[in-house]
Amino acid sequence: MKRPILIHPDPRLKKRCAPVSDITDELRNLADDMLATMYDAPGIGLAAPQVGVLDRLIVLDCVKEEGAPPQPTVMFNPQVVARSDAMNTYEEGCLSIPDQYAEVTRPAEVEVAWIDRDGNERRQEFAGLWATCVQHEIDHLDGKLFIDYLKPLKRQMITRRMAKLKRERARL
Ligand code: NI
Repeated sequence: MKRPILIHPDPRLKKRCAPVSDITDELRNLADDMLATMYDAPGIGLAAPQVGVLDRLIVLDCVKEEGAPPQPTVMFNPQVVARSDAMNTYEEGCLSIPDQYAEVTRPAEVEVAWIDRDGNERRQEFAGLWATCVQHEIDHLDGKLFIDYLKPLKRQMITRRMAKLKRERARL
């Protein structure tokens, strides 16, 4: 079931989320809803605070080759445990900041530890778009948005645009 996505600025997008201690059916259901919401948007990643839940949970699928099988990935309590010195710059966007894009520089490769949908501990290295996306989503769990990497003027401009968008949507 799809859930509504919060649009920046929203205080829930600025909060540090709490670790999950037990993978309950309720949390698995939330993860499935988040995947459905992400694919529908469409997007390549979504974090729980973006649907108003302040738990450390992200979902992602960065497969972009046409015809390649999807790789729906659910991560509870994801943590970057190692980063490459090499950096990579991608033009990022965010489902909570629709139609706004900007270049962000992050470590090109990261190793991430997490708990999967079945409660198993996992650890894997990510590169390319997957590395950028997983770092962007983990940032959400610490109340950080990709626009927080931009210069203040650019960030304020985007925030003003989003506030205007929210006012327009509220009037509908
Ligand atoms: Ni985002």
